[in-house]
Amino acid sequence: MILLTGATGFIGGLVLEALSTKNVQIRCLVRKPARSDNPNISYMTGDVLDPDSVLKATAGVDTVYYFIHMMGKQKEREKFDILDRTAITNMVRACKKNGVKRIIHLTGMSDPHEKLSHHLASRKEVEEIIRSSGIDYTIFRASVIIGRGGGAFEILDVAVRKFPVIPVFNWGNTRVQPIYIGDVIRYLVECLDKKETLNKCYDIGCYEIFTYKELMQEYAHQLGLKRIFIHIPGSWHWISSLVIGKMSTVNSNVVYWLIESLRNNMVCEPNDLKKIFGFEPLAFKESIMILSH
Ligand SMILES: NC(=O)c1ccc[n+]([C@@H]2O[C@H](COP(=O)([O-])OP(=O)(O)OC[C@H]3O[C@@H](n4cnc5c(N)ncnc54)[C@H](OP(=O)(O)O)[C@@H]3O)[C@@H](O)[C@H]2O)c1
Repeated sequence: MILLTGATGFIGGLVLEALSTKNVQIRCLVRKPARSDNPNISYMTGDVLDPDSVLKATAGVDTVYYFIHMMGKQKEREKFDILDRTAITNMVRACKKNGVKRIIHLTGMSDPHEKLSHHLASRKEVEEIIRSSGIDYTIFRASVIIGRGGGAFEILDVAVRKFPVIPVFNWGNTRVQPIYIGDVIRYLVECLDKKETLNKCYDIGCYEIFTYKELMQEYAHQLGLKRIFIHIPGSWHWISSLVIGKMSTVNSNVVYWLIESLRNNMVCEPNDLKKIFGFEPLAFKESIMILSH
């Protein structure tokens, strides 16, 4: 039995779709009641902040997919790290009590030598709690995921489509290694059957490294849009997240914290994923071509 958390979210929703074609029993832990016609899929109502519901949800489970974050849901912006810590602590405790064998998690990529943004520091903390739990894990770390509905991609999309003149603040030279959503889902689902990924963490990204400015330039180019980029010193974090938050479909708190994270480089450490999974993530240009069709 698999327990899928975050099944109503961007990543969890797509993992559920992919898992539903396999012959596995999936229990989704959701906050609002739901049902499925697929006999392999069941829903359990609960909340990761409530230890009892997490204990109930993990009973009889072998593997937990952990795709929770709390950046968007709170009125008090500063509190999400405390909530995320509580949630993963509840999950790890429940997994231990119920003898869950493995946790599969997707998180944000970060450079250990940099001072991390609030968002990435919190992601790192959740990752560390999983790694030190004593439960087997597989953790993937991504930067910008290229896919409709992904927070970072939607911000990129709004910035490039809506602004003929794009201000580039002091994050313009931050380096990032994007990845196509289909490839992220493949890693997350196919790792289930790959024992060699147990107790491993992998940075995942395409082979190209861009600065954020180059990423916007390339995206504009792919969309056939002429854009002017103007360098402006400073981060202008508040004002840019306010403007983008109003224009995009992404929750404004999530926009705020993602824009704060633009200062942190997200470049992959080398790994042996190609050997294990037999594929390489698509190039950025190819990802955009797929999304445009
Ligand atoms: N999206 C990206 O571009 C990206 C990039 C790198 C890494 N990641 C990682 O991928 C993971 C999933 O992110 P996502 O983009 O899929 O997030 P998302 O779309 O915002 O989904 C978050 C999920 O968490 C659930 N949730 C929040 N609080 C909960 C609670 N108290 N109890 C139960 N469920 C709760 C939400 O359920 P409700 O529907 O009830 O709110 C939702 O299903 C995160 O670890 C993130 O760091 C994402």
